[in-house]
Amino acid sequence: MHLAIIMDGNGRWAERRGLPRTAGHAEGAKAVRRTVEAAAAANVDTLTLYAFSADNWNRPAIEVTALMRLFRRYLMSETQRCIDNGIRLSIIGRRDRLSPVLLKTIAESERSAKDGAGMHLRIAVDYSARWSLLRAAHLASERTASVDDLHGLLDRVNHSPSSGGDVDLLIRTGGEQRLSDFLLFECAYAELLFLPCLWPDFTEVEFQSALADFASRERRFGQVLLAKES
Ligand code: FPP
Repeated sequence: MHLAIIMDGNGRWAERRGLPRTAGHAEGAKAVRRTVEAAAAANVDTLTLYAFSADNWNRPAIEVTALMRLFRRYLMSETQRCIDNGIRLSIIGRRDRLSPVLLKTIAESERSAKDGAGMHLRIAVDYSARWSLLRAAHLASERTASVDDLHGLLDRVNHSPSSGGDVDLLIRTGGEQRLSDFLLFECAYAELLFLPCLWPDFTEVEFQSALADFASRERRFGQVLLAKES
């Protein structure tokens, strides 16, 4: 199963407590840790987390800097835990706008957590689905590409070492109901789940209830399900 999550609501979580938005992101990082653990235990094959969109560069510099520092700290503190739990770790998205120091940490983390045979954790940083599609379409125009080829090309332009493939379940926290340029091609047949809870409040309880909701959905992929003959 490929689970993708738009982690929204950190800012509001902090503002409601009279804290700076960056405190919400720090709390959000704790929810990331919990969710990675819960997803690995639930046998999720691929978990793709939207940590920073290409449009997030337009946020105040102080917030962008804090987020970049948080990503780096997360990689430094969590890579060993990923290795111990057989989790393969990758950062997907553009690489040309990240700082050299973050790029170095990404390279080290990816190198040491590349052999995990369990869940593939993909953290999207400076990610844009439209940008990815344009880049992949350019590569695809050099040949006749199938849907599978396009999946591969999208993974290639985003530095994902193996294909996330189609998303099965997309969760967005924070109450908004939109995709915000995340995995637009891969979500063609995804089940969508929009939750009111803010990302820092996303716990094992919300995670399990999301999985139960997904299990109750009838996925038809555009076909007609025939009633079972008795
Ligand atoms: C959206 O909430 C969240 C982000 C743009 C950043 C996501 C970052 C994290 C969850 C923390 C760290 C992540 C990792 C991988 C260590 P928002 O700030 O737009 O919230 P708002 O809608 O309430 O303002």
